[in-house]
Amino acid sequence: MTYTQPQLPYPSDSLAPAISQETIDFHYGKHEKAYIENLNKMIQGTEFDNEDLEDVIKRADGPLYNNAAQAWNHIFYFFSFSPDGGGEPSGELADAIRRDFGSFDKFKEEFEKAGVSLFGSGWVWLSRDQDGKLFITQEPNAGNPLRKGLTPLLTFDVWEHAYYLDYQNRRADALKSLWDIIDWDMVESRY
Ligand SMILES: [Fe+2]
Repeated sequence: MTYTQPQLPYPSDSLAPAISQETIDFHYGKHEKAYIENLNKMIQGTEFDNEDLEDVIKRADGPLYNNAAQAWNHIFYFFSFSPDGGGEPSGELADAIRRDFGSFDKFKEEFEKAGVSLFGSGWVWLSRDQDGKLFITQEPNAGNPLRKGLTPLLTFDVWEHAYYLDYQNRRADALKSLWDIIDWDMVESRY
């Protein structure tokens, strides 16, 4: 099976100033493209060929896992944004955030803190378990909570390539800016 890179549902200049067009063109246009190309090369002839990408992430190891997870994580990340995003979640997800973190502001604070304190490259995730309980986890490198049996809802990419062109070393500012473009309808649909 050949995996293809979906076109983003918004123009690459439409998330500025949170994420500049230049960053999207490099990050989605070049980094993500390379992960998918590597995945397509590596998966040929393996037991994972023809499997759903989520199953590959759950079971593969080494370079195949790294490229499969990076391919999936970036699509998940970029499809969490909208030029009309921001604001707050509603419905069951909003209730669960209040229940498990105290308030939406407390959740944002904990999520940002997890992203800022993750050493090196990786991802911070909001996920749910089978009972709907919410968890914030830090995952190094390509890490994905599907490996832990959790259902991912939202992620921030904290690799330097995600923010260095726009924010240089200011990871905290980069993460804070993302709240302005979150597509909460999408995150709620994942919950
Ligand atoms: Fe990235």
